[in-house]
Amino acid sequence: MKFLDEIDIKGKTLFIRVDFNVPLDQNRNITDDTRIRAVLPTINYCLEGDAKVVLASHLGRPKGQKVEAFSLAPVARRLAYRLHKNVKLAPDCIGPEVEQLKAEMKPGDVLLLENLRYHPEEEKNDQDFARELMKGIDVYVDDAFAVAHRAHASVEAVTHFAPICVGGFLMRDEVHYFHRAMEDPARPLAALIGGAKISGKLTALKNLLQHVDKMIIGGAMANTFLKAMGYEVGKSLVEDSLLDAAKETMAEALQRNVKFYLPVDCVVADRLDKQAETKIIPVQEVPKDWLIADIGPATVTLFGEALQNAKTIVWNGPMGAFEYDAFSRGTMAMVQKVADSYALTIVGGGDTDVALHKAGDFQKFSYVSTGGGAFIELLEGKKLPGILALEAWSERNQDG
Ligand code: 3PG
Repeated sequence: MKFLDEIDIKGKTLFIRVDFNVPLDQNRNITDDTRIRAVLPTINYCLEGDAKVVLASHLGRPKGQKVEAFSLAPVARRLAYRLHKNVKLAPDCIGPEVEQLKAEMKPGDVLLLENLRYHPEEEKNDQDFARELMKGIDVYVDDAFAVAHRAHASVEAVTHFAPICVGGFLMRDEVHYFHRAMEDPARPLAALIGGAKISGKLTALKNLLQHVDKMIIGGAMANTFLKAMGYEVGKSLVEDSLLDAAKETMAEALQRNVKFYLPVDCVVADRLDKQAETKIIPVQEVPKDWLIADIGPATVTLFGEALQNAKTIVWNGPMGAFEYDAFSRGTMAMVQKVADSYALTIVGGGDTDVALHKAGDFQKFSYVSTGGGAFIELLEGKKLPGILALEAWSERNQDG
């Protein structure tokens, strides 16, 4: 894959695909602008290099309809604030008005296109729509790692119409750190995997077993493993249809000589509620009408010790129902353990970065991925369409 700093950008019109799919509150205020801040190095590099910057993103899932609630207007305001410069929001992402705005741009200008998913063609990877997006564009820059698992028009099809296609700096970091952790890791390599369900992560677990030295399982997904081992888990969230899959995973770990860790104690509650009655007990003693809501202190110690000699740690998924303060201690304690470790620490996927924000220890990790689904698909061992498209472009244009 070719990257942004390997090409000439002076005076060129750059289409930078970013992922500004940021969380908004009811008043459409951005509650976390990590994904905006993550692409500032790429945008600033282009502005300092006297390029014209056209930014494009999706926001939410407007299902091909122009819905005001999914407008990128709040993003344009936040981006202007972060860049300390004017950001013009186009009324659409294609069409004559947008062509006009692109044509009027001067080096150093920033134009943010309106939500790509206002057009159903975006998610259909439509060639004509991609051709429209690339009108008046000299260089396509993909800095949207978080949407690289979607073969959408602005991610895949555009690479067949842009004169030059490169990855941005965020894309480079994401690919680089993941490679360091999974393809060429300093060992021991430990995976700390949590979250609610095994079903969404079974493929990732299977793939991880081929790479890791230690597999540490927390969160509600540990319940299915515990039940598969014959423990009573009461009213805890369990995927009964996956008990055999859980057993097979443990057997495969044993066969591959991967050290496999499960919780030894837990916080149980009479219901999942902030007023719930709670107690800490060994996993052997879960009452029939209670549920497991977090890992317990002995498990934090066990997991912490298992991580102590790790040289690389990959973490995905919280250790309990951390959205409730009463059940967030396990996750927060593991944030501390991983943050204090000397290992290369890579965190990503879904709620994991939300937990890091809550704990406020973001800076102590080697790398926090901006990817949710994209990060999980990498853990599954999949090749992402966005990355493949950039690689394929480079292959086709080796001499260029
Ligand atoms: C994400 O938030 O994971 C990406 O922006 C992809 O969004 P999507 O799941 O709606 O395709």
